[in-house]
Amino acid sequence: MKLVKTIEEVRQIVKEWRKQGLTVGLVPTMGYLHEGHQSLIRKSVEQNDRTVVSIFVNPIQFGPNEDLASYPRDIKRDMALVDETCGDLIFNPEPNEMYPSHFTTSVQTTEVTELLCGARRPVHFGGVCTVVSKLFHIVAPDRAYFGQKDAQQLAVIRRMVRDLNFDIEIVACPIVREADGLAKSSRNTYLNPQERIAARVLSQSLKLGLEQIEKGERDCKKIIQTITEHLQTEPLAKVDYVEIVDNENIQRVDRIQKEVLVAIAVYIGKTRLIDNFIYKCED
Ligand code: PAJ
Repeated sequence: MKLVKTIEEVRQIVKEWRKQGLTVGLVPTMGYLHEGHQSLIRKSVEQNDRTVVSIFVNPIQFGPNEDLASYPRDIKRDMALVDETCGDLIFNPEPNEMYPSHFTTSVQTTEVTELLCGARRPVHFGGVCTVVSKLFHIVAPDRAYFGQKDAQQLAVIRRMVRDLNFDIEIVACPIVREADGLAKSSRNTYLNPQERIAARVLSQSLKLGLEQIEKGERDCKKIIQTITEHLQTEPLAKVDYVEIVDNENIQRVDRIQKEVLVAIAVYIGKTRLIDNFIYKCED
């Protein structure tokens, strides 16, 4: 396993692999890796001859009052995890390698970014699309791996790939959770012990919503109410949003139909956590 810091080096290595006829998978991350990231790496290793993991805390996807400065970083630990998971190459550029002075181009999507995190974090998905486009051009993988944990991000990337004709297969990977249901996240390290316990309320409330749907409820308002009321039983939780949207275009639906995304964002203390589930309706 090798770590490189420049675009030139990645291109050289991938070019050599291509000469040998090898396939390449890309796992874009911001580092501080956990089992969620490792599940993506494992999937890529399974499906491709070589796997590149990018580790880059992308400054342009953080808003002015967000956690760019405090975002957890530990490249040594990340290297060990990638090695253990059999990734072949880490691309870990410095910000000025990705964004030289006078960097003025960006990639934006509409529609899929109107609601959920797109509504709360106005610069976020433009930053994500721009950096992911750059990584796609730099690595030119056959496949790229994204977690269902960030469901709106996945919908946005799929839309961007379709609209801009990237010849890359997007592979979605299921949410990896802690034993008590909390979705794994690099941001979980912000939680103190009391908040960590309180954070269970996210997955618990979604479970109640899912049970209600499985029992036949189709009215989104009622399901949203169940989830919101359960979240409100936790004194440390402050609801940011509870929404049910079409999983492809991320637009609101009134009734459970086709494939819906039930998504929540909740502050536990100062930490904003997200979670979701997808329900495929057979009615
Ligand atoms: P990051 O938050 O590091 O996540 C990298 C990838 O890991 C994303 O595709 C995310 O959905 C996935 N992931 C995180 N937690 C997961 C979990 N518990 N289960 C399954 N997958 C999980 O998402 C980003 O970075 C950035 O926005 C990025 C795409 C790298 C662009 O900067």
